[in-house]
Amino acid sequence: MLAFEALPKLIDEVRDGELKTALSEHLEETRYHVARVEQAFRAAGAEPTSARSAALAGALEQHNAQQVKEPTLRDYFHCAGAARTEHLELGLYAAVLPLASGEGVELLTRNRDDEEQALKRLTKLAERLRTELPG
Ligand SMILES: [Fe+2]
Repeated sequence: MLAFEALPKLIDEVRDGELKTALSEHLEETRYHVARVEQAFRAAGAEPTSARSAALAGALEQHNAQQVKEPTLRDYFHCAGAARTEHLELGLYAAVLPLASGEGVELLTRNRDDEEQALKRLTKLAERLRTELPG
């Protein structure tokens, strides 16, 4: 899964402690998200399979193509990139949730709510980091 490729690299590269914590906690949450999605599929009588999202892969490829050297700008860039991913994930939940039923609705709603919280947290962090950018 892309989050398990992208987040550890971001966590390693960011300097801001609060951002590092937010990304680390979201990585941990993401492990539960995978388990809940798999459970939602099984609850619907379907066997979950892994598929690579072209939208998320494209966003990650575009993000990784940039080399930002200045540390505060790099933190801002990684924070904004992570927020962009949350937007994409929320779009996926918006598309899938109306198709869910029963237990699947609760499982996927919990994931979506976590993604919304992660986006809010990253947006606030990006606002603070923006104020700390050099001249
Ligand atoms: Fe996420």
